[in-house]
Amino acid sequence: MNVVLFAAGAALWPEYEAPLRRAFAEAGVAADLVTEADPARVSAIIYAPGSPLQDFTPFTRCGLVQNLWAGVERIVGNPTLTQPLCRMVDPGLTEGMVEYVTGHVLRHHLGMDRHILRAPGWDQIIPPLARERRVTVLGLGELGLACARALQALNFDVAGWSRSAKTGLPFPADHGEEGLQRVLARSDILVTLLPRTAETENLLDAQRLDWLPRGAVIINPGRGALIDDAALLAALDRGQIGHATLDVFRVEPLPDDHPFRRHPRVTVTPHIAADTRASSASRVVAENLRRLQRGEPLLHRVDLARGY
Ligand SMILES: NC(=O)c1ccc[n+]([C@@H]2O[C@H](COP(=O)([O-])OP(=O)(O)OC[C@H]3O[C@@H](n4cnc5c(N)ncnc54)[C@H](OP(=O)(O)O)[C@@H]3O)[C@@H](O)[C@H]2O)c1
Repeated sequence: MNVVLFAAGAALWPEYEAPLRRAFAEAGVAADLVTEADPARVSAIIYAPGSPLQDFTPFTRCGLVQNLWAGVERIVGNPTLTQPLCRMVDPGLTEGMVEYVTGHVLRHHLGMDRHILRAPGWDQIIPPLARERRVTVLGLGELGLACARALQALNFDVAGWSRSAKTGLPFPADHGEEGLQRVLARSDILVTLLPRTAETENLLDAQRLDWLPRGAVIINPGRGALIDDAALLAALDRGQIGHATLDVFRVEPLPDDHPFRRHPRVTVTPHIAADTRASSASRVVAENLRRLQRGEPLLHRVDLARGY
């Protein structure tokens, strides 16, 4: 029997145990799911950042490290990791991200905050139609693509940007440094759904924030390190950036005294944009275990050199 070690942390075990066992049964995966095991007998590891497991060296027979999170920056650089690493692509997580992104885009598009009247006055500012609002999504992977499609379905004037050139998308997609300048220049609302890698760190620095139209809105559910914090605060203070909705931060929880918390044009959400859902994610884990057992290619394999 294959030993599958749940090393994603004791706090997640009660949430995942039953869905995993159910998904294994449904997928016809014969596996001994455990929270402790002799490393030499483990054939797959279910993992999450924050796990006490940091040394993968003794897991000599392990053919899969399945991360429960979409982001892998906290494991990808682990020098002891030689086993194949797969990230989580969970339909439930994707749905959650689409809801977060469309909700926050609509908030800014419609001027919802402005139109909740608490003070005297009757300021009728009619928002443009979605078709007149340019929204750009940086990152056209699982999440960026799903969000871009949903925004387009709402009629927004959508464009995207990614590392590699893309064809066949129903909206314009650009890539590379010059492409970045082009897409930023047409962004009334910018959504950042890039992974944290050496290349994406501080991608939005002072110069690139200036490439955005004055008053642009940024929505960042990707990773905190994508944006230079000090440059963002300066751009907000001089009106270059109209508002920033931030879900992710360099340090989490965001310290109570961080300037983002009290800035009038920053919305902080506590890394809740999209969570992995145990029921749907367990089916993804089961499918990868089934593939491992049959020697088929694993789904959502991380390129360790590329970092995502
Ligand atoms: N806040 C939350 O609750 C939450 C939840 C889940 C995920 N996330 C974040 O969302 C991120 C994206 O997830 P995903 O599933 O969509 O990832 P993914 O499928 O791996 O897609 C990543 C996208 O980013 C692009 N990219 C990577 N490096 C780039 C670079 N240097 N320049 C330009 N584009 C680059 C990729 O380009 P190519 O297409 O050319 O490869 C790809 O389009 C995760 O890494 C995580 O940080 C946040």
